[in-house]
Amino acid sequence: MGQDTKSPPNTGRITENGPLILHGRIRYSAGEGAPAAEFTQVALCRCGASGNKPFCDGSHARAGFADAGRCTRPPGTADQASGGDLLLNAISNGPLRVDGWFELTTTDGERFVCGDKTWLCRCGASGNKPFCDGSHKKTGFTA
Ligand code: FES
Repeated sequence: MGQDTKSPPNTGRITENGPLILHGRIRYSAGEGAPAAEFTQVALCRCGASGNKPFCDGSHARAGFADAGRCTRPPGTADQASGGDLLLNAISNGPLRVDGWFELTTTDGERFVCGDKTWLCRCGASGNKPFCDGSHKKTGFTA
């Protein structure tokens, strides 16, 4: 999946104590062979408590999820915004892989572009949410 400089950039915004909101041209398939659903906006679970992963179902409020929404910029990010589609793929017992490009804004206003492959935490245990840091292996996450 390449960069598409003609379409508007996809964007992601981390919310304090809540989900990551993605806007753009988003496709999600629930599994291999399953039809892909298309979205222009999704709220992605960051707390790990959702019963509808990778999507937020509001469980963060009941779970008392507390995360300021700041993160360390992972390797492979850039400063330039890009367009194109975002394809979401849940990795069994692991993160959500995002194929494509999106501009992420943290709660403290830092912006950078993620792509063309980004691994987002689904388990809620990462020390660098919304990104996977491998903690799902230590916690024995299954989903
Ligand atoms: S899925 Fe949470 S750390 Fe990898």
